[in-house]
Amino acid sequence: MVEPTGRLAPPCVLVIFGAAGDLTKRLLLPTVVNLVEHGLVGQRLVIVGVTRQPWGHDDFRQVMADAVRTFNVGTLDPTVLESLLPRLYHVRGDINDPATYTGLRTLLAEVDAEWETEGNYIYYLAVPPGLFEVIVDHLGQAELAETTPGATGWRRVIVEKPFGHDLDSAQALVARMSQVFDEEQIYRIDHYLGKETVQNILVFRLGNGIFEPVWNRRYIDNVQITVAESLGVEGRGGYYETAGALRDMLQNHLFQLLTLIAMEPPAAFDPASVRNEKVKVLKAVRPMTPEQVLQQTVRGQYGAGTIDGVVVPGYQQEPGVSPNSWTETYAALELSIDNWRWAGVPFYLRSGKRLTKRDTQIVITFRRAPLRLFADTAVHDLESNVLVIHVQPDEKITLRIQAKRPGTTVTVVPVQMEFQYETLGEASPSTGYETLLYDCMNGDSTLYNRADMVEASWSVVTPILDVWKALPPRDFPNYTAGSWGPAAADMLLQRSNRTWHPVE
Ligand SMILES: NC(=O)c1ccc[n+]([C@@H]2O[C@H](COP(=O)([O-])OP(=O)(O)OC[C@H]3O[C@@H](n4cnc5c(N)ncnc54)[C@H](OP(=O)(O)O)[C@@H]3O)[C@@H](O)[C@H]2O)c1
Repeated sequence: MVEPTGRLAPPCVLVIFGAAGDLTKRLLLPTVVNLVEHGLVGQRLVIVGVTRQPWGHDDFRQVMADAVRTFNVGTLDPTVLESLLPRLYHVRGDINDPATYTGLRTLLAEVDAEWETEGNYIYYLAVPPGLFEVIVDHLGQAELAETTPGATGWRRVIVEKPFGHDLDSAQALVARMSQVFDEEQIYRIDHYLGKETVQNILVFRLGNGIFEPVWNRRYIDNVQITVAESLGVEGRGGYYETAGALRDMLQNHLFQLLTLIAMEPPAAFDPASVRNEKVKVLKAVRPMTPEQVLQQTVRGQYGAGTIDGVVVPGYQQEPGVSPNSWTETYAALELSIDNWRWAGVPFYLRSGKRLTKRDTQIVITFRRAPLRLFADTAVHDLESNVLVIHVQPDEKITLRIQAKRPGTTVTVVPVQMEFQYETLGEASPSTGYETLLYDCMNGDSTLYNRADMVEASWSVVTPILDVWKALPPRDFPNYTAGSWGPAAADMLLQRSNRTWHPVE
């Protein structure tokens, strides 16, 4: 057990639907173990797994213990796992069967009494998205969505992505869930917001007086957000065929990064204030006309290639993928934000699979200094100041400035100031879900998506999806695995004499 790093979360039962699945084994259980190890969760946390497997409680404990030993990040303290196992319980049942919820209700009453969890329940929907509504409906019918009058406790539900697949389906899901749960009870998770560097963006922007005055159209030329993956679809071709890069990455993760960069400073750091500012940014993103979709978006799909010396197949040759697939594995957008701060500043977003290397970075390029001052010297051109927030794998912030090379003539060279996140101390090994789960236990939804944020992001993406669907791509595959994506994505910036900032 390590030194506690914060206050103990309230007692609760974490009910995981789909507890035999990948997310639970690889991320959720290791996350809980980390929270226990750091003294953030105490002895009054109980986990109930709902699966279709013919398991008793002991079988479930065995499977989860094996999963934690396999997927634990860092060094596992065996006493922590041992202390948790007796508080793991299993409910066997199909999610579509009302009897599953009757059984769950009975078990919850028992464990609540035994472990004094004070009637606090979190329902984690770790299941395919098609089952979200079914579970919510059944929880409502089984009277598990609200505390019975006079009783203590709260009920919260964590919903995984994808939250809808276009604006209509997202609105339908919002409406359906709102029949059972109040908005304050719903926690729509985006694991990107659990990353330290992402959470640091607001501290960096708003905790340092020198950046906010220049954080606007007067001083910033353009913003680029890149989320590059070197991996392919990793056996999830069937799912990816229904999604594509725009739905899978841009609508959620990249838009979250965009809001953190572009939002106004909130009046307070509480869930309502922060999320009010975020949604304003999303609503200010100019929806594209069909003509603008053709000019300001690029889609791509990888063909066979080589990454790190390994030959990899093209997307259409991946298992579960149609040999004639139109699904995009790469998307780039040029977005405009119609507000006073950002009018005229292009925001370029790109994400793709099977690119040269894995990297997430946000690049803020400032306007150039006036050139005249050095007109009679050897300095003909000055580079822009560039601020790069590296989110992963290297967590660091760099600022490129101009400096004079020592010597009798004036020669200006770009130099780099660098802040490495690890110099602040070694971060505890983490799955990335710790902060998010801990926040939910504490009723803090700041880092979770509100319904209006989800709808606003789909409002931006859906017109693009509509045009892409109406005009199937003719040139897929149009980039080689191991490259930086389709040539058209470079042309998107070249039109305005800009280039993508290289990924270092
Ligand atoms: N895995 C990740 O890294 C990750 C990351 C981000 C988001 N997500 C999201 O998290 C959710 C879960 O992902 P996952 O990777 O864990 O999926 P998964 O491995 O396919 O697990 C889903 C689980 O749901 C269960 N299930 C399906 N139908 C059921 C039914 N009718 N009754 C009872 N259980 C049923 C499955 O049970 P059986 O084992 O009996 O089939 C399976 O164990 C999805 O929404 C996914 O998009 C996952």
